[in-house]
Amino acid sequence: MIRKSGMYADLECILLTEEELKAGIRRLGETITRDYAGKEPLLVCTLKGAVNFFADLIREIDLPLAVDFIAASSYKGTESTGKVNIRKDVDADIAGRDVLIVEDIIDTGITLNNLKTELLKRKPASLKIVTLLDKPGGRQSDLEPDYACFTIPDGFVVGYGLDYNEKYRNLPDIGILARHIYEKEN
Ligand code: IMP
Ligand code: MG
Repeated sequence: MIRKSGMYADLECILLTEEELKAGIRRLGETITRDYAGKEPLLVCTLKGAVNFFADLIREIDLPLAVDFIAASSYKGTESTGKVNIRKDVDADIAGRDVLIVEDIIDTGITLNNLKTELLKRKPASLKIVTLLDKPGGRQSDLEPDYACFTIPDGFVVGYGLDYNEKYRNLPDIGILARHIYEKEN
C-alpha cells in the first residue's frame, strides 16, 4: 500500500482520505439508485481522470446499467466558440438513453459544457452530469453538476485518478499538491 512517503511528500495536505471517498461514493450510489429506479442508465466515464471514481461508483449503483468511455478536450483559445475535441467517442448510440456523464472534477466547466452541448444533439432521453469533485470557485461557464460528491476549495488537487503531468493518479487519497512542485516545473 502506498503510504505517507514517496509521492505523499509532494502534497501540502490530504484533502479526502480513501475512507471519506468510499463513504461519499457509497451515498452517491444510493442516491443514483433511487433516482434511476426502473431505468437502465448508460454511465459514461470521461478519460482519464474519472477512471478510479467510475470503477468505484458503478459498484455502488444497484441497477442494470451499461458503461462507456469518452475522452474530450477543449480547443485552446477558442472557448467562446464552444468547440470540443472528442478524441475518443462513446461506442454506444445514446439516442433515447438515460445518460450520466461521470467526471473527476469540474473547475471552469468549459470542456464539459461544450461536451454536453455536443451530446445533447444526439437526443438522449436524459443527460446528467456526475462529478466526484466540484470546485465552484473556478467556474467560467454556466455548467453545474447534477450530482457532486464533494465540494472543494480552490487549489490544485491530485490522487485517486487526478494527475499533475500524468503523475499521482495511483494515490488512494486526494491531496492538495504543494505549490513548489508545480512552480518548479512551470
Ligand atoms: P474544467 O476546467 O472544468 O474544464 O476542467 C477540465 C479538466 O481539468 C478536469 O476534468 C481535470 O482533468 C482537470 N483539472 C481541473 N482542476 C484540476 C485539479 O485541481 N487537479 C487535477 N486536474 C484538474
Ligand atoms: Mg478530466
